[in-house]
Amino acid sequence: MVKGILHPDDARRAVSAGADGLIVSNHGGRQLDGTVAPLTMLPEVVEAIEGAVPVMIDGSFRRGSQVLKALSLGASFVFLGRPFNYAASIAGEAGVKKAVSLLGSEMERNMALLGVTDVEELTTDLLRRH
Ligand SMILES: Cc1cc2nc3c(=O)[nH]c(=O)nc-3n(C[C@H](O)[C@H](O)[C@H](O)COP(=O)(O)O)c2cc1C
Repeated sequence: MVKGILHPDDARRAVSAGADGLIVSNHGGRQLDGTVAPLTMLPEVVEAIEGAVPVMIDGSFRRGSQVLKALSLGASFVFLGRPFNYAASIAGEAGVKKAVSLLGSEMERNMALLGVTDVEELTTDLLRRH
């Protein structure tokens, strides 16, 4: 797995070098000030590697609806970091369980509102720029 991909050229190079999967990430935006958002680059990375390996993403996902957008744009997995750190620091294991539960219920509610019953049904057809 290669984490930290933000450019389609790097995605192609990683796949050529034998990567089994890519994680589109700016490492939480904690290094380069003003770096591009991973979600912005996700469609170009997905297009560049033409399904060769799974494309995953992390960085600033806080709501179920945001996770659904990334899945709709071709991500196979969406990872969250700090939300679970914060939950653990406030309420330990129970806090993390609560955060997982909240995220899951947000995803389920938004999928119902979109009229889909399976994440496989999440496609770019559901998205519009605004
Ligand atoms: C305190 C902290 C330390 C981190 N250290 C690393 C690291 O050593 N290597 C790395 O690839 N990413 C590191 N990350 C980035 C995370 O792996 C992940 O990409 C990021 O937290 C995802 O964004 P999110 O926290 O907004 O969900 C770190 C993040 C935090 C908050």
